Amino acid sequence: MKAIVQNRYGSSDVLEYREVDDPVARDDQLLVRVRAASVHADVWHVMRGVPYVLRIMGAGVRRPKNLVPGTDLAGHVESVGPRVTRFLPGDEVFGQSLVANLWRHGGAFAEYAAVPEGRFEPKPAGLTFEQAAAVPTSGSLAVQGVRDEGRVRAGQKVLINGAGGAVGTFAVQLAKAYGAHVTGVDAAAKLDMLGRSARTGSSTTRWRTSPGAASAMTSSSMSRGTIRGRTSGARSLPGGLSS
Ligand SMILES: NC(=O)c1ccc[n+]([C@@H]2O[C@H](COP(=O)([O-])OP(=O)(O)OC[C@H]3O[C@@H](n4cnc5c(N)ncnc54)[C@H](OP(=O)(O)O)[C@@H]3O)[C@@H](O)[C@H]2O)c1
Repeated sequence: MKAIVQNRYGSSDVLEYREVDDPVARDDQLLVRVRAASVHADVWHVMRGVPYVLRIMGAGVRRPKNLVPGTDLAGHVESVGPRVTRFLPGDEVFGQSLVANLWRHGGAFAEYAAVPEGRFEPKPAGLTFEQAAAVPTSGSLAVQGVRDEGRVRAGQKVLINGAGGAVGTFAVQLAKAYGAHVTGVDAAAKLDMLGRSARTGSSTTRWRTSPGAASAMTSSSMSRGTIRGRTSGARSLPGGLSS
């Protein structure tokens, strides 16, 4: 199969597109025909091998141990390992190719990837493969922050710094879905994009810029706009990111 391959740490010029052996689904693994894969912050860390601690955490000390980067993907199940119980060939799925430590290459940037069943879910019919592939890592970090650590509840006031980034756009929508009053801080140029994403799943949302509030955050925020959203008709999450 064709894959993006990396033999040494460095910038994106170390990446090659070439032929490698096909992976095989073993035990509880799915062999997925990759239709879309996404880049998140950890993929960038592992490509460069920085911070150095990730090299001794399993990425490979001198060079990447696993050659094919990427962890987040969406595609069709091609075949299943003998211990797989939830999926059949042909199913459309999305998820992460690694369990726990993501500071390693996960093999997503390839035609096929062998991935753990437990890190995958059926792809919602309303999402494209590209949209689904963008969800797993950034979305689960937002879930950790908003639901697990933040325990956001209806009526609370929540401030999300970096609201227009990969994690922030999920965090804004989750906090709103939990019924919070959300203030997002990011570059003012992202106001339109954030307004669109925040309208998802809520009946009314209003945004306005308030640069004065941004300057209260950090000195580097002073050039940025603050985006405030108020929601009515808040609803609880019906179980995970697939909503
Ligand atoms: N996404 C992941 O899967 C992942 C995984 C592990 C760790 N993390 C960590 O989680 C954090 C967020 O990651 P991310 O993937 O969401 O990054 P991201 O997509 O780069 O988003 C960060 C956002 O913050 C904005 N920003 C930068 N400086 C700011 C400031 N001073 N005030 C307000 N906003 C500012 C950025 O705007 P500009 O783009 O205009 O600068 C960008 O919109 C990072 O620390 C990252 O290392 C993320």
